[in-house]
Amino acid sequence: MKYIILTGASRGIGEALCRKLLSNHHHLLCVSRKKNDSLIAFAHSEQYKMDYFEFDLNNVHEIDELMRNIFGRIDSSNMESIYLINNAGIVFNRLIEETDPASIIQLLNINLVSPMILTGKR
Ligand SMILES: NC(=O)c1ccc[n+]([C@@H]2O[C@H](COP(=O)([O-])OP(=O)(O)OC[C@H]3O[C@@H](n4cnc5c(N)ncnc54)[C@H](OP(=O)(O)O)[C@@H]3O)[C@@H](O)[C@H]2O)c1
Repeated sequence: MKYIILTGASRGIGEALCRKLLSNHHHLLCVSRKKNDSLIAFAHSEQYKMDYFEFDLNNVHEIDELMRNIFGRIDSSNMESIYLINNAGIVFNRLIEETDPASIIQLLNINLVSPMILTGKR
């Protein structure tokens, strides 16, 4: 079984990737703030393996616990490989001088810090 951790699976490119990757040989471990119910229903109707973790990647200090929960879903007896797709991301369409510091920190947490922490987990 190939285990695929996919962030930002709820919509857009992440949802499309998830639908493409669902197969009998893959177990999807999806992360986003809100789960996508129709995606989950589709996976279950086709009996594909998928777990969904509702998590805000801005909470960078809680990523350790998230990854413990994700790894808890991986069965090492049938695990062929584990992949991480860092897809979740945000953009701001305001000028930097109009952007408050909290928003800049949030942007960096989601787009830079969380992928670095996720990539370092094993
Ligand atoms: N679309 C493009 O043309 C384009 C071009 C270049 C690069 N990209 C990059 O490709 C990626 C996907 O783009 P997209 O257009 O599909 O974006 P999108 O439609 O805005 O979807 C973003 C995904 O990231 C998740 N996400 C956002 N903030 C999050 C947070 N704090 N914690 C957890 N998950 C979070 C969202 O789920 P929730 O809201 O449920 O959390 C959603 O599933 C992004 O990194 C984007 O920067 C896109």
